[in-house]
Amino acid sequence: MKFFLDTANLDQIKAARELGVLDGITTNPSLVAQEGREFTSLISEICKLVPGPVSAEVTATDCEGMLREARELAKIAPNVVIKLPTIAEGVKALVRCRAAGLNVNMTLCFQASQALIVAKAGANYVSPFIGRFDDISMPGMEVIHDIRQIYDNYGFKTEILAASLRHPLHVVEAAKAGADVATMPYAVFEKLLKHPLTDIGLERFLADWKKAGAGR
Ligand code: G3P
Repeated sequence: MKFFLDTANLDQIKAARELGVLDGITTNPSLVAQEGREFTSLISEICKLVPGPVSAEVTATDCEGMLREARELAKIAPNVVIKLPTIAEGVKALVRCRAAGLNVNMTLCFQASQALIVAKAGANYVSPFIGRFDDISMPGMEVIHDIRQIYDNYGFKTEILAASLRHPLHVVEAAKAGADVATMPYAVFEKLLKHPLTDIGLERFLADWKKAGAGR
């Protein structure tokens, strides 16, 4: 499973990168807005920090507008992935982006039928939003299971990018369901390695070692 960080914050990206398991970045207009920075230069900096795919989202809602923005975003760096909303205009733009050789991540996916359409249209990634489904008391993870089955049935190469992950268990469940990528906030990424019994166990090992005067 690939790990992406869902953030536009440079400090978080640098910190996560140090662990050596970071594969890419996803951003969205809300995350970029939080940084108070000019969009193009921020994405450019992120692309330099992380050699893997960096999703940058368009804000137009019509196909021609999306294409205009996509062309500009693609100029920033070769690892930019164009993020388009999963609406009819987005699918039209997806087809044309792919024909132009641009990589595309289809965002705001909430049902398997949307994922089926974007795979047929050649998306590189589809982003089902798990947490936002859970927020309205719907089992978000079921969407991943359904998409996995459909993609495997037909051999679609579109990668399932589990998004809107709110806690480590979401990451584990997405991995069990066969998602190709998990994108998560830094707070979730940090928690993936944490377990109190690991800390207690390490403390005890070191205390026993010290008590016995071992290693001298
Ligand atoms: O980047 C898309 C997605 O991960 C957003 O997550 O927590 O705002 O629902 P969230």
